[in-house]
Amino acid sequence: MVKINENYLKLPGSYLFSAIARKVKEYKDANPGANVISLGIGDVTLPLPAAVISAMHKAVDEMAAKETFRGYGPEQGYDFLRNAIAENDYKARGVDISPDEIFVSDGAKSDSGNIGDIFSTDNVVAVCDPVYPVYVDTNAMAGRAGDYDEKTGMWTNIVYMPCLEENGFLPKLPERRPDIIYLCFPNNPSGAAATKAELKKWVGYALENGSVIFFDAAYEAYITEDDVPHSIFEIEDAKRCAIEFRSFSKNAGFTGTRCAFTVIPDELKLGGASVKSLWNRRHTTKFNGVPYIVQRGAEAVYTPEGREQTKALVAYYQNNARLIKNELAAAGFSVSGGVNSPYVWLKTPDGMTSWEFFDELLTKANVVGTPGSGFGPSGEGYFRLTGFGSAENTREAIERIKAVFCK
Ligand code: MLT
Repeated sequence: MVKINENYLKLPGSYLFSAIARKVKEYKDANPGANVISLGIGDVTLPLPAAVISAMHKAVDEMAAKETFRGYGPEQGYDFLRNAIAENDYKARGVDISPDEIFVSDGAKSDSGNIGDIFSTDNVVAVCDPVYPVYVDTNAMAGRAGDYDEKTGMWTNIVYMPCLEENGFLPKLPERRPDIIYLCFPNNPSGAAATKAELKKWVGYALENGSVIFFDAAYEAYITEDDVPHSIFEIEDAKRCAIEFRSFSKNAGFTGTRCAFTVIPDELKLGGASVKSLWNRRHTTKFNGVPYIVQRGAEAVYTPEGREQTKALVAYYQNNARLIKNELAAAGFSVSGGVNSPYVWLKTPDGMTSWEFFDELLTKANVVGTPGSGFGPSGEGYFRLTGFGSAENTREAIERIKAVFCK
């Protein structure tokens, strides 16, 4: 008899953002006239930068002519993009990353999920709590998480590192030694950022304990404070213990266009094996590369016009996040994040659970956010709002929230 991967049967419910989308659809179907504003999933709303569009148009034309048409590209990404990334995202920050340590892909979500393919299922995994659900769910799918405990909302083999208000929503070093440590800074969902000193502590811990850090830097463009590193490789010796995930989604609006990259330094060796070589083997076997047109678009992010336009996009969303944070704080809410991040982390009022607040917000204010408990047990009693909406909708959502909850 054919056997399925039984780990999938252990997964509770559905993926967080699919569950929210379903609830919102049900509400809209039942209330056809409702003007629902979404500050839920971290999806961008402004169009791609003009420099990106024009590079993509040019690439489309190239695909239309026999002389310039491209078929399969290099699975790891075209040199023009890998070089631009190495030069602008790393060298410009004093970090020496060679283009062949960069793997261009279709998303940080897929990479941070797929990276587990090259690691044994025996490894102990540590995650922040609350956490981007992809890290936990993909480890559960691989059989690395043990069993799901309905009562605690935790997986038996995962080490959860609570990120609580008293620690500025930053994790403490774990008591039980993990092999793999997922860190995401600026953090999704809390918006907390890790300073250089903080990241140094983690790199030291990983080196001392023979652990690997999976560092998700998808939100680095939102950093506004000087002592917050944009890459884990700004920390000395991190190349010996870390893998970094980056994306064009949140800085240049590629959520629907799909382009990201993963950096695996040559120095990262485990049991004598080069992690980069293993990932290269996996990547070339299971992935045929990001479309040429999209990679040309991503390359344009690094042109002078592209930089300027991207900076403006980020500033627009940062402004929304700042507005949400400041206005709700002034209205008496307890809020954090929103400084180095497009996410604002809100304590639910009146001791409501995260999902109770979600329902109230949806039905009374017609505003959608993300329940903190969907990101892990320590997210209970919290709620995430994003700065990715339009400025008008953001302002309107804030007024509606205040009208419903601040009487
Ligand atoms: C989020 O809302 O957390 C993000 O949109 C998820 C993602 O980037 O995949």
